[in-house]
Formats: sequence, C-alpha cells, structure tokens
Amino acid sequence: MLFIKQNIYPIIFAFLIVSYLLFSVTIYLYGSGNYQMKTNEKALAGQQIWQQKNCQACHQIYGLGGYMGPDLTNATSEKGKGEEYMKMVLQTGTLRMPRFNLSNEQIDEVIAFLKHVNNSGNSIVSPEQIDIFGNYTLAENKHE
Ligand code: HEC
Repeated sequence: MLFIKQNIYPIIFAFLIVSYLLFSVTIYLYGSGNYQMKTNEKALAGQQIWQQKNCQACHQIYGLGGYMGPDLTNATSEKGKGEEYMKMVLQTGTLRMPRFNLSNEQIDEVIAFLKHVNNSGNSIVSPEQIDIFGNYTLAENKHE
C-alpha cells in the first residue's frame, strides 16, 4: 500500500503539468471567445454609428449612460414601440432628441445593433420589482 502511494506522486505531478500546459495552450488559442464572430456585420456597423454619434451621452444601455433619453437596452422589443417607431424617431428626431440625418441604411444598422443588445439581456425594471426604498435587482427581472 505504501509502495503504491509513494510511486504515484510523480505520475500525479506529471499529469497536473500536462493538464496545465494543455489548459494554457487552449486558453491562448481560443480564450478570447468569439463574441465578434457572433455579432453580425450590420450590428457592428450600428455600434460604430452609436459610438460616433455619441448616443450614449443621452441614452443608457444596461442603465449606464446619459439620462436625458430613455434606456435603450430593450427598446426594440418594447410593447407599443418597436422598430417602425424607432425608425421614425431616428428619421425625424423629436423636440428633445436631435435629428442625426442618418441614411435609411444607417438607421437599419443602428436598429440591428440595438436588437443585438436586446438579445443580450434585460434591463427594464418593472414597478413590482422596486421596493419601498426605491431599490431593485436586475437578476429578478420578470419583464419579457
Ligand atoms: C441630446 C440627447 C440625445 C442624443 C444625443 C440621442 N438621443 Fe435618442 N432620444 C433622446 C430623448 C430625449 C428621447 C425621448 C424622445 C422624446 O420623448 O421626445 C430619445 C428617444 C430615442 C428613441 C426612442 C426610444 C423610446 O423608447 O421612445 C430612440 C430609438 C433613440 N432615441 C435612439 C437614439 C440613437 C440611436 C442615438 C444616436 C444616433 C440617439 N438616440 C441620440 C435624446 C437623445
């Protein structure tokens, strides 16, 4: 019994070293994930416009950003609004939202980006989730 125990240590050690090397090589080759690949070209172009026009100055994604306009994380799936409404807002602007003179193609790209964001999760807080102190947890979100 003692004999087996003593001789198994180098094997375990070698096994751990090999595992560590395989792990390191795998992480090195594939570790950064394929987030970019999953995102479609149109959504990436939309993200560029989102950044260039600084939409984030007035709008939030996941609650982060400016507070002049609404959070747009789930804007594409919001009831009573949706794509056509967003196209209209982007084409004409409103009293408070500037008109950016985007082409129809650019508008489609921005909407593709916002759809991608919408698919990534949920950030709209329903009134039932907010407690009497005004706190809420996004993890318990029941909005669809
Ligand atoms: C100067 C601040 C400002 C900037 C910059 C801005 N917005 Fe807005 N946006 C608003 C405001 C305010 C509203 C609400 C419209 C209203 O009630 O008049 C709005 C509304 C919207 C809506 C409709 C959302 C809804 O739920 O009603 C969309 C979509 C939108 N903006 C997209 C964008 C995009 C895309 C950009 C960047 C190209 C952008 N906004 C830049 C202020 C801004």
